[in-house]
Order: sequence, then structure tokens, then C-alpha cells
Amino acid sequence: MAREQVVASLDIGNSTVRCVISVISPDQKDPHIVGIGEAESLGIRDGMVSSIEEVVSNINTAVENAERMSGLAVHHVYIGTSGSHIETTPSRGVIAVSTQEISEADVERVIEAAQNAPIGRNSHILRIIPKSFSIDDQEDIQNPLGMSGIRLEVDAHVISGNVSILKNLERSAHQASIDVNDIIPAPLASAESVLTRRQKELGVVAIDIGSSSTSVTVYEEGSLVHTAIVPIGGASVTKDIAIGLRTSIDAAEKLKTEYGTNIVDEVPEDEEIDLEKISKIDSHIVSRKHLSEIIQARYYEILMLVKEELKLVGRDGVLPGGATLSGGGSKMPGTLELSREVLSIPVQVGYPQGVQGMLDQIEDPSYATAVGLILWGIHNSSIDSGSRGELSFDFGAITKMIGDFFKKLLP
Ligand SMILES: Nc1ncnc2c1ncn2[C@@H]1O[C@H](COP(=O)(O)OP(=O)(O)OP(=O)(O)O)[C@@H](O)[C@H]1O
Ligand SMILES: [Mg+2]
Repeated sequence: MAREQVVASLDIGNSTVRCVISVISPDQKDPHIVGIGEAESLGIRDGMVSSIEEVVSNINTAVENAERMSGLAVHHVYIGTSGSHIETTPSRGVIAVSTQEISEADVERVIEAAQNAPIGRNSHILRIIPKSFSIDDQEDIQNPLGMSGIRLEVDAHVISGNVSILKNLERSAHQASIDVNDIIPAPLASAESVLTRRQKELGVVAIDIGSSSTSVTVYEEGSLVHTAIVPIGGASVTKDIAIGLRTSIDAAEKLKTEYGTNIVDEVPEDEEIDLEKISKIDSHIVSRKHLSEIIQARYYEILMLVKEELKLVGRDGVLPGGATLSGGGSKMPGTLELSREVLSIPVQVGYPQGVQGMLDQIEDPSYATAVGLILWGIHNSSIDSGSRGELSFDFGAITKMIGDFFKKLLP
């Protein structure tokens, strides 16, 4: 008999570890969020695990906070991994069709054949996402199931991550006594929670400005077109402020989040900030105009690099669904306006959607990845086995790598 199931996620970011616990009931479509927890992420540097001990301790804190709020215990999680170690490689798979009609098994086989992508020696495939299929000489087929032909080909995106980073994340979760259902690239998870089906059909880019990097994920006609990581995020903005205004990193972070803006013109020339008010070790006075100029210069660079990625796939300025901005870095005032100017498309905040409960707390673009991990997990695997504790992160499972391809075809 169907029953309630607990699905949890851990977004192990470069600045924050976030845990979200949800409950899925058989009579409700959307997962119900019942607990969230956060911890400062001190064991990850530029996407790499710099201290397993720290990561374990940060995971424990985030999970305990979410458990306390929900009154539920977390035994399994979907983990999100972010940063420049995530790579997307185009790949092609070809097979001979075994019967007259193309079956699910044939589609699985051809996607499996696309595993032969030229990925790095230390990379592990996390997802294979089909772009389109060809049957004999007929190209651009979205769903080949039931069609007839002799040769089936697929054009796919192979998304991979660095093996030692993935293993260290899994090890950290195990040391925190948590099993890993799956490790999911954070850019895909984030896009999953902020984009609507309609936007994905029209053509849209989900931009997640994190701490160490900014992810760019483009969808069109319902399919993934491009995903890339720009290796600059909010931490670079903070560093620029510390250098430019000669402050400590802590004071720079406070200046950024409490006084920062991307709209330089709105800041009066003579507005000053006394660092003594926000810092124990800094005591000089800085110009808020200068602060905003430093911030805007770095955000402009990030957005220009996003624009380059869109140019690369011929989608610069031509995405009718516009752009969404998520991640903590998107909370800088004026970022929507600056993005509209640089990208020349409509831009809106990427709030996590598709869930119920605790909406006040998760109506925050920083939660896009953690909420998206839950949605991605639900859409991509048999949750039933997760709740009985039978799923474990399997480095070879092709069905997980293929993800929700078959589910996407359902009406
Ligand atoms: N109100 C705010 N205004 C401007 N920047 C902010 C604000 N709040 C958070 N940030 C910045 O957002 C960044 C953290 O964002 P987020 O929590 O999405 O990162 P993360 O997921 O931990 O990192 P990553 O995705 O790179 O692994 C930090 O650089 C932080 O300074
Ligand atoms: Mg993140």
C-alpha cells in the first residue's frame, strides 16, 4: 500500500551546506517541505573537499537543524555538487536496432553507447541527457519509441564530475551516517526548481550565482541545450572589495551584503560607511560609491561570461522565456536590472517552485538547488526503494545516468 515517504537533499555548496527534508504523500502531487537546515561550508574550496572532517561536521549541523524542525530523521539524501569540476561534453551513440520497432531497451542501449564521450581520465559520468535521435537518415527525432528503422543514433550531453571530489562527498555523507541516493550536478537541480515547463519550451537560461562559480543552464523545446560553469561567483566579489577597499574578508562580506548594490548611479557621491560599525578589526571610512563600482565591475564580468556561453550556442538575446537568477549572489540589489541590460532579455528572480509547505523560508533563490535536488530525485528514481533503504550511490547505474528521459515522454 502506498504511504508517505521522506525525501531529503543536501546542497553542499562552497559557502553554505543546505539540507531540505520533504514528505511525499500518495494523494498529493508536490512534495511537502517539512524541515530546512543550514551550516557554513568550511570544508569545500573551489568545489574541492579541502577537509572531510569539516564537511562531515557541516553536514551534521545542517541535517540536525532540518531534523529538529521536521521531527523526522534523515537516512538518505540526494547530494548536489557544484563548481568547475562539472563538465559537459557532447557525445554520440549509435546502435543497430534489434527488432522492427524501437523499444525502450533500444533507447537505453543507444544512450548507453553515448557513454564513450571523450571525458577526462579522472572524470565520472553523472548524467547522459539525450538532445535528439536519428533513425537511419531521418534526423531531429525527439522520441524514437515505436518507430521503425535499422540504425538508431543519439546526440547527447554527457555531464561528468571529478571522481575524487564525488567520492569525497559520498565519503563525507557516509561518515555523517547518511546514505547517498544519488549525486546530481547542482546546475541541473537548480534549473529544475526555478524553471517552468513553459519557459523550458519557449527557450530560457537559468543562471545560478553561487559563491565560487556561476552556472548557466539553457533549455529550449523542453530539452537541455547547454550547461556550463563560469568559474566566478560571489566570493570573487568579496575578494575584490577586500582588496579595493583594504578591508578584512569578513568586513568585505558584510559591506557587500549590507551596503552593496549593482546600481552605481543611485548611490550619492558623498555617502560613507564607517567600518568600525561592522568590523572589530577594521576602522577606516569607505565610500559606498566606490564599493558599488567594485561590485558592479565584477557582476558585469560574470554576466558577460554568461553572455559568451549563450553566444556559443547561438542563443544570445534570443531566448523568449528570458532568464532566471538564483543562488545567493542573485540577491545583490540591482542584479536583475544589470542582467537585463547585459543579456538583452527579460530576467526574473528564480524562486524555487513545485513544492508545498514552509514557503516563507524557501522563497529564497539560495534554496533553488536544495529544493531542485528533491524534485530531481523524485522525477528520476523509484522513491519507494529509497524509503526502504535499498538505494545507494552506484557509480555505474546507467538508468540513473539517463535520468528522467522516459518519464519526460509520459503525458
Ligand atoms: N544579500 C546578499 N547580497 C549579495 N550577495 C549575497 C547575499 N547573500 C548571499 N550572498 C552571496 O552569495 C554567495 C553564496 O551563494 P550560495 O549560497 O548560492 O552559494 P553556494 O551554493 O554555497 O556556492 P556554490 O554554488 O558556488 O557552491 C556568497 O558569495 C554570498 O556572499
Ligand atoms: Mg550553489
